[in-house]
Amino acid sequence: MKDRIAELRRQLDHHNYLYYVQNRPEISDYDYDKLMRELIGLEELYPDMADPNSPSQRVGSDITNQFEQVRHRFPMLSLANTYSMDEISDFNDRIIKETDRQVEYVCELKFDGTAISLTYENGVLTRAVTRGDGTAGDDVTANIRTIRSIPLRLQGEGYPAFFEIRGEIFLPHASFKRLNQEREEIGETPFANPRNAAAGTLKLQNSSIVAKRGLDSYLYDLTSDPMPAPGHFETLEMARGWGFKISPHMKKCGSLEEISEFIAHWDKARLDLPYDTDGVVIKVNSYQVRRQLGSTAKAPRWAVAYKFKAEQVLTELLSVDFQVGRTGAVTPVGNLTPVQLAGTTVKRASLHNEDQIKLRDLRLHDWVYVEKGGEIIPKVTGVELSRRPVNSLPFHFIVRCPACGAHLQKPEGEARHYCLNYLHCPPQIVGRIVHFISRRAMNIEGMGEETVQLLYENKLVENIADLYELKKEQLSVLPRLGEKSADNIIRSIENSKNVPFSRVLYAIGMRFVGETTAKNLAMHFRNFDHLLHANREQLLEAEEIGGKIADSVLAFFADRENRTIIDRLRGYGLQFEMVEQEKTSTVLAGKTFVISGTFENHSRDELKALIDAHGGKNLAAVSSNTTYLLAGAKVGDSKRAKARKLNVPLISESEFMAMLGGTSPDSEFPETDAYRKENNDLSHRFPYVNNYGHTESGETETADDTQQGQLF
Ligand code: IVH
Repeated sequence: MKDRIAELRRQLDHHNYLYYVQNRPEISDYDYDKLMRELIGLEELYPDMADPNSPSQRVGSDITNQFEQVRHRFPMLSLANTYSMDEISDFNDRIIKETDRQVEYVCELKFDGTAISLTYENGVLTRAVTRGDGTAGDDVTANIRTIRSIPLRLQGEGYPAFFEIRGEIFLPHASFKRLNQEREEIGETPFANPRNAAAGTLKLQNSSIVAKRGLDSYLYDLTSDPMPAPGHFETLEMARGWGFKISPHMKKCGSLEEISEFIAHWDKARLDLPYDTDGVVIKVNSYQVRRQLGSTAKAPRWAVAYKFKAEQVLTELLSVDFQVGRTGAVTPVGNLTPVQLAGTTVKRASLHNEDQIKLRDLRLHDWVYVEKGGEIIPKVTGVELSRRPVNSLPFHFIVRCPACGAHLQKPEGEARHYCLNYLHCPPQIVGRIVHFISRRAMNIEGMGEETVQLLYENKLVENIADLYELKKEQLSVLPRLGEKSADNIIRSIENSKNVPFSRVLYAIGMRFVGETTAKNLAMHFRNFDHLLHANREQLLEAEEIGGKIADSVLAFFADRENRTIIDRLRGYGLQFEMVEQEKTSTVLAGKTFVISGTFENHSRDELKALIDAHGGKNLAAVSSNTTYLLAGAKVGDSKRAKARKLNVPLISESEFMAMLGGTSPDSEFPETDAYRKENNDLSHRFPYVNNYGHTESGETETADDTQQGQLF
């Protein structure tokens, strides 16, 4: 069996590498899953074979990370910046002077993420540390293990027994967009750019959230004693063979002309890359020459960064609109005299929030600099004061909601203004309905924002419950909708009555309740009434529910109008409880369990569901009727004492899993594979991730992760 575990790990590492590093998978997601499930089953049965570098550990855990500060073996330096070929020519001259010859360089892209230093011992990842202050950083190994392009175990041969490899962790555009969409949807402030998002994600306390964010890596600097090859380029080529993700866009350059060509090419071509870059790094290839040149306290003398100039245009700020989102957040958007910028015409740019506007004393009819960052939406980066019209007046942020007239509020500690007229502010109402019908919520097809707007303006739908009263005749007479589309919409609304309870909870749009939180609430409370009547303490008992979410849920249900809507939805036949699945087995029939502590591989709610599914019973407190105390780390002292007194045996998570005989851990979850497939939910690729998901509660971002728009 031990051989089988090793073989499965080898195979999974290999397929993981093909998928995430090489981008050319050889087996289907289904087959990958099958191997993974087999491995997880075996690892449960043979806990002594546990290994933090097993591919099953890519999913992270909900155990809180406490970052240990680790001193770097050698400092993580920065690079001297240059902005012109002249400066690069000076750099080259200095090196020629020192070495008496034209040396060979390697040109690379400068990735705009957050730096990391990885240590490998005997081919196994043992430590990952952030840059920190350059001398010491945070040990973020648990989070780094979840990044699938980082090998946990090396392949091939010839790697040094001990080495450090440094590189950049970044969030590709697609993951950044998805993350920010999710944050906007549940009323969290979006990240300003992918770099902040990557840095913030690496510092998350809960690695299972990190696992879902889609971080990626490029490694660009290896150190060992002795070095594997005399030059940097050859060393990185070898590292590629050991499974590291090394950029394909590296080039050896023997002259200034070649460097200049590389820069000119990537200055344009970088806009088509699926991740942010902010320059080119020019490095001496030979390690021997590097040693000869040495470093200053801040940066090596053998490398220099060329920073791309962000393309900038100057244009006039004509007026400012204020947009109100579903959560009531108000965003100022500048209307500009249209200008060409990096291939498109720009007419509008986000002004982010009042603080950013004040910071530069932005005024109407100012001439402003507009840039397109890695982000798709252009931003105003500065004001050209020399062109400021005389007598211009400071610009005041609005005090009332532009849509409904309610007084705006700026909550303590938040950068954004909010309209609190939750129930009657039109864009909030329309936004809520659009969220309700969205694919990952009720998946009502055939209508989008425009149709919802139309229905609202025609007073056909004023809240989510009204959708279920719609008649075909009301729809087919609307502009742009015919008989056929009306039929489709009505059928789709009808079908939405089968959408599982957890998605209904997500769809109703409680603030801070995203998909994963909704699943946790559904798992814990099982039906709507239990949730509706839960008090704060009871809410906090659910998996990953913190004070902020609990208060938001309470506020939602405290509102009479919300309760009326919920009652109506119940009346229309939406799913208001978890569908109890057929029992998976009866191996636990007649046995009762009390769960206490935190567990490696399952959340408490998952364990409860497993007990249920296998015919056992969950109890809240230890009594003489308890068969087992299922104890994790930090098991409650009183529960342990009581169990000892009553002779109730303690069992571990793996002993418990062994009782189930290796049955699939998520088989009781009501969302079937077919259902997930239909809804294009890729979470099935990693079903062991914890399909019930984790909330973003308890998430801590470090102070330097400014999530607000960096306007200037
Ligand atoms: S080499 C001592 N190569 O830029 C030199 N750095 O400003 C080690 N960076 O902290 C760095 N892409 O986070 C190097 N291809 C690349 C890079 C790169 C991005 C970052 C890195 C470093 C910063 C220096």
